[in-house]
Amino acid sequence: MGIALLGYGTVGSEVLRLMTENSEALEHRIEGPFELKGVAVSDASKPREGVDPELITEDARSLVLRDDVDVVVEVIGGIDYPRELVLSALNAGKSVVTANKALVAAHADELAAAADANNVDLFYEAAVAAAIPVVNMLRRSLAGDQIRRISGIVNGTTNFILDAMDATGADYEAALAEATRLGYAEADPTADVEGHDAASKAAILASMGFYTRVRFSDVSCEGITGVTAEDIEAAKAAGDTIKLLAICEKITGEDGTVSVSARVHPTLVPREHPLASVSGSYNAVFVEAEGAGDLMFYGNGAGGAPTASAVLGDVVGAARNKYLGGHAPKDLTYADLPIADPGDVPTRYHIDLRVHDRVGVLADLARTCASRGISLRTVRQEEGYEVDGHEAARLILVTHTAREHDLADFVADLKAHDDVLAVKSVIRLAE
Ligand code: HSE
Repeated sequence: MGIALLGYGTVGSEVLRLMTENSEALEHRIEGPFELKGVAVSDASKPREGVDPELITEDARSLVLRDDVDVVVEVIGGIDYPRELVLSALNAGKSVVTANKALVAAHADELAAAADANNVDLFYEAAVAAAIPVVNMLRRSLAGDQIRRISGIVNGTTNFILDAMDATGADYEAALAEATRLGYAEADPTADVEGHDAASKAAILASMGFYTRVRFSDVSCEGITGVTAEDIEAAKAAGDTIKLLAICEKITGEDGTVSVSARVHPTLVPREHPLASVSGSYNAVFVEAEGAGDLMFYGNGAGGAPTASAVLGDVVGAARNKYLGGHAPKDLTYADLPIADPGDVPTRYHIDLRVHDRVGVLADLARTCASRGISLRTVRQEEGYEVDGHEAARLILVTHTAREHDLADFVADLKAHDDVLAVKSVIRLAE
């Protein structure tokens, strides 16, 4: 069984280390011998520890096509170049294991079709929450159930930042600087803090949970850059914490149409909810299923060794199938549900306002609310604020569930209202 490794960075080097250290056990589990045939890198002249220099090549295109390669492991990252390599490998009859969430979230249709057409496997357990076995859980363990909702903390960087803000009262910039100093955030943290990384994972989770193709471009996405220390403090006062959640759920419209919603946004989570206790850079995925009830999966969602653990689990599966003739569960999309209009998604808003502190303001805002058909769950007022020299009160409105576009219209009304000095923040609440 010949293995080709594409990429030798943080993940690739750990894949090789664990593969070498555990080779005897892996051969038992694969039920046959295996051998690393090559390691593709972008610059072969760089010194690399832990790998036989003879195995290093810059020619990944030729490596994936070699006759003695049966399973290709892609841990390069990016989209276009790995897409070309993965398709080339699948079309040449090799099974592929990838940790690349952006690739799978953007091109799963094409990759799954190539795997099917060539009767080979495409595995990507490491693409969602690294070591946490959520892909296998959805594909295999819950294949007999109906999933209602999946809510995940699937990005460690943003969870670290929000947790630091919650624990220390730091503002976003200070918490990001700390995450960068400790190596949690990358030099360019955009993909993490803007929610794009979590959105790729949401697309994969929703596709598997609802047997419907959900692409990265189908996911509504809002990151954490707008979350302030004041928001965190208001969340605490309400008995909540703020988490960046990837939420995938089935929505039933007023006419009975069932659709799939996948979205990523900062969310107020009650302190007693299991997801609220997920601290630091840990990930967790909370699944609500008809038969199984509520399940939570928790652990390391990033890092070299945790990601390599998931990759090697897939390598064992792919190699074993090649020896014994089995196949991985296919990427089924038979339900083919429509993607929900983001405006139709039911949600609840926590709105933090500054208003003129005078008689009749509250009554007038309540009328604005009623005119949009929005029902308020709680209203909290604090005195002693000032906006542009005006004496102001802080009002925190929490709504009952309404459709996203009605709530957004209500917020637009508030912004235009003469007595509203500022809409400081709008954060959605977990169901
Ligand atoms: N950058 C991601 C995170 C890990 O912070 O969780 C890779 O998806």
